[in-house]
Amino acid sequence: MKARAAILHWIRRVGFCLLFVPVLWAGPETKVEQRIITLRAEIAHHDELYFKKAAPEISDAKYDRLKRELRELEASHPQFSAPPAGVGDDRTGAFAQAPHRVPMLSLDKVYDEAELRRYLAKAMSRLQVDSAEWFVEPKYDGLAISFVYEDGRLVRAVTRGNGKQGDDVTANARRMDGIVETLKSPTPVRVELRGEIYLTYAEFDRINAEREQAGMEPYAHPRNLAVGTLKQLDGESMEERQLSLVLYGWGEWEPASTRPTSQIELYQRLRDWGMPGVPESGSADDPEEAWAVVQAFKQRRHDWPFPSDGVVLKLNRVSQREVLGEGTVAPNWAVAYKYPPDTAVTQIADIVLQVGRTGVITPVAEFEPVTLGGATITRASLHNFANVQRLDIRPGDWVVIEKAGEIIPQVVSVQTDRRDPDVANFPTPRHCPECDSALLSDAVVRVLRCANPSCPARLKLGLAHFASAQGMDIDGVGPGLVERLFDAGLLMRPGDFYRLRMEQLEPVVGAKTAEHIFGSIAQSRKASLTKVITALGIPGIGPANAKVVAVHFRSLETLANAELDEIDPAVVPGLRPAVADALRAYLAEDETRNVLDDLVSLEIGQSAKRVQVGPLSGKRFVLTGKLPGLTRREAHELIQSAGGEVSGTVTDSTDYVVAGENAGAKLDEARRRGIPVIDEAALRAWLDESP
Ligand code: IVH
Repeated sequence: MKARAAILHWIRRVGFCLLFVPVLWAGPETKVEQRIITLRAEIAHHDELYFKKAAPEISDAKYDRLKRELRELEASHPQFSAPPAGVGDDRTGAFAQAPHRVPMLSLDKVYDEAELRRYLAKAMSRLQVDSAEWFVEPKYDGLAISFVYEDGRLVRAVTRGNGKQGDDVTANARRMDGIVETLKSPTPVRVELRGEIYLTYAEFDRINAEREQAGMEPYAHPRNLAVGTLKQLDGESMEERQLSLVLYGWGEWEPASTRPTSQIELYQRLRDWGMPGVPESGSADDPEEAWAVVQAFKQRRHDWPFPSDGVVLKLNRVSQREVLGEGTVAPNWAVAYKYPPDTAVTQIADIVLQVGRTGVITPVAEFEPVTLGGATITRASLHNFANVQRLDIRPGDWVVIEKAGEIIPQVVSVQTDRRDPDVANFPTPRHCPECDSALLSDAVVRVLRCANPSCPARLKLGLAHFASAQGMDIDGVGPGLVERLFDAGLLMRPGDFYRLRMEQLEPVVGAKTAEHIFGSIAQSRKASLTKVITALGIPGIGPANAKVVAVHFRSLETLANAELDEIDPAVVPGLRPAVADALRAYLAEDETRNVLDDLVSLEIGQSAKRVQVGPLSGKRFVLTGKLPGLTRREAHELIQSAGGEVSGTVTDSTDYVVAGENAGAKLDEARRRGIPVIDEAALRAWLDESP
């Protein structure tokens, strides 16, 4: 037995050593194979983050570079090429699955002029033509979706998933604007209309501004936010975030005789049905023209209101599409051209530390001004200190910055060969740059935080937030004035705004501005309790959560005197656990109680009842479509301030539906249930007439 064990032992050891032999002897071929394996693993990792978690770690441009390197290696070494990778997989495991009767494919991508010309030449030689109608349109960067209509009624909305089946997101998708519940006849027996769900930059910025005001990290990319919103199980955010839809294709279409014969015809049908097609396109007959259109779009795309990372070139005519056919991953009749990322090289003047309102310390690179993607850039967040270490970025370094679909410029690499060897690496700070208190590291979100509630940087930002439009809306008071009043010792706590005197403010801003500011301060006394709670800037508590708190506590005094164990999701309806934690932590601070008591003694935040009683008291409203003179939010606030309630879904308890242009499923639903439908003018008339 012993001998056998010894032999096994030696076999294992020799075998173990042999494992290294291929590496030690790796010739050029095996090195290529190794690289291919590594690239595939890396890409799979990033696919998982992108498709499943909607939380990518690298920029799209970097991802594309990995994919491109892999494609090139596979093309030059066909012996190592793998079967096609498929279309990705966006399924989260949380939704019911629905099959696609016609697979939802992806697109082949090209990255430069030569690749594009090669693609077009091959397609046209297979069609045996010198000229064909190529349709060129923006490539939307969102989430691919398929809407299934049976006998003209919307029955299902399904994400691409793995191309064969996807997540059934019907309930959430129905809550979007632009969705038509019933198609005007003549309608196909069954049709799958396909397109993309996305967030406009304007909506993305609005959501992020609100988040930042509430002391939360902004979202990094509109696509991930669109995915995250649509894939929420409770669909709660569907009302707060306005997702957009564009349609550009179809899957099954029965009977076949009614199918569009071209892309142009598809858009005509969509118009007839009141559904959104791609609003902007170009056309080209040959590779020469196609390249010219692609170049023209390269400039124009900076003005598009939606995120896009390229253009799609597709044959207009279906008869020609059928000649070229489709592969398992992508059709042969279309291709995506991805623009190279906008990049620039500049020198870092300094790395500064920023203290946020909630105490988070963010390293920020300040550089020599440089133009990038049509804008002048002078600074970029370095996010956190782990990132500073990873990049090993130092003051004076030359860096490459990039803006690839992402809105915010990023430092992607450091040109270390140009570095002054005497500059030391940038140390992770231990003390707050403003108040010198020791920094705490927050293990959960991996940030460094100044925990001193009296840190002047935090106080000033808190006061500026209190006065901002998201807060008490004290017009004329911005961060600059707050800083001056703070430094002069006139403004330490929110309540101090209400103690300011003319003779104190006038020397700083002049008589006229001072008067204006006093007017807004007086006006702000009437702010609703929700506004006051939002203005306090409690981490994680923006307007929506503030409303939950306001509805329960009814006055600032009750909130100020609340016991900590009352701040509990089981006690306060609609309070989410994370929000409860944040509120409890806030109320546990002595200084918080002082701030609140002070505001209570000034009779701020006592108008909760007043704002909820009004001409629309007890009435429930649902908004749908685009109103001519009010944004969604403004309409929401208008109704609420008059005592009405706004909800997202039409039910029998809905009193009125306020409908605008392109009103969709909600309008149909209101008609079906016989609920009165009014327009913006009627709503305004109602409010103006009432006392
Ligand atoms: S046509 C595959 N047109 O990009 C069937 N696709 O990365 C033909 N996309 O799978 C698609 N904008 O989800 C088409 N104007 C557009 C598009 C578009 C975005 C998406 C689509 C596709 C993905 C490939």
